[in-house]
Amino acid sequence: MNILITGGAGFIGLALTDALRVAGHTVTPLDNLSVTSRRPSPKGLVVREVRALTPRDLDGVDTVIHLAALKSVPDSFETGNLEHNVAVDRHILHTFVVSTARRLLMASSCEVYGEQTGPLAENAPYAARSPYAVGKVASEQLAGIYRPLLGDGRQLGIVRFFNTFGPQEGADAVVPAFLSAVTGDRPLTIQGDGTQARDLTYIDDAIAMLTRVLDGPELLPVVNLGSGRAVPVRDVADAVIRAAGRGTITHAAPRINEISSFTADLSLFTRTYGTVDRTPLDAALALSLQSFGRPLTAAGPRR
Ligand SMILES: NC(=O)c1ccc[n+]([C@@H]2O[C@H](COP(=O)([O-])OP(=O)(O)OC[C@H]3O[C@@H](n4cnc5c(N)ncnc54)[C@H](O)[C@@H]3O)[C@@H](O)[C@H]2O)c1
Repeated sequence: MNILITGGAGFIGLALTDALRVAGHTVTPLDNLSVTSRRPSPKGLVVREVRALTPRDLDGVDTVIHLAALKSVPDSFETGNLEHNVAVDRHILHTFVVSTARRLLMASSCEVYGEQTGPLAENAPYAARSPYAVGKVASEQLAGIYRPLLGDGRQLGIVRFFNTFGPQEGADAVVPAFLSAVTGDRPLTIQGDGTQARDLTYIDDAIAMLTRVLDGPELLPVVNLGSGRAVPVRDVADAVIRAAGRGTITHAAPRINEISSFTADLSLFTRTYGTVDRTPLDAALALSLQSFGRPLTAAGPRR
């Protein structure tokens, strides 16, 4: 298949580009490189703004995987992330609808669920608690408006990622922030008391599951992509210290509108696409640590 990945130089885009190429697909990663990072760009990267794409650019493309976004939840309270992301999503939706491409798969987020109890299924109500989440809700609703405009055989799907982590992720998310701290001999900073729990998915597992979605019978209008395993942030910090063999913990003020727990209900995913992959957390953290590139010495965790 001929696949275009927007946000192709990002954390998930980079890993997905590699995996789909290994599987024999022709992949064009596209990114405006607006999110600075220390990662290398993928081979064949098209440096371009998503909002500059035209329907002609999708000639010959079978599937568009739209990952480009500004994803920092805290930043979204202060910056134009919401407006940017919705404008980008609206542009890709319209461009796709009037193009000849067959499928569009868009990235959404568990943040659309906000504060709710128990495993979160796709039919739970929207309860956004940040501008970033409001943007993802808006984009999902825009997708619902564009979907009926598609002709036969064309598909528009959404995956709601939970907290995906692994090598090459920018240090603004909780796991890479801890990994960066421990390898830089700085304390791991937990915002709040650390009881807030996150559904953590190792990147290789997320990519395996995404591949199953792409190879599956159809793109669902919306499907969760997570591990179904919620881990309190203080346990993540302890696990990072265990994996590194050293480290200390400090606490800072909680985030604005911090959500107490995310756990993915993966019933729809397993019914439609089969297995959910779950690399054990300790193993996934050890693999992620390697990408921070500094040898670690053994020493007991301290608080
Ligand atoms: N990583 C996670 O845990 C997670 C969780 C929930 C949802 N998501 C969603 O998954 C998608 C991918 O996330 P990621 O972790 O790879 O993020 P990332 O920040 O690593 O990558 C996003 C990429 O998009 C690019 N980009 C942003 N705006 C662009 C534009 N207008 N034109 C072209 N390129 C642009 C950036 O330069 C960056 O390389 C995002 O939509 C994000 O909101 C990710």
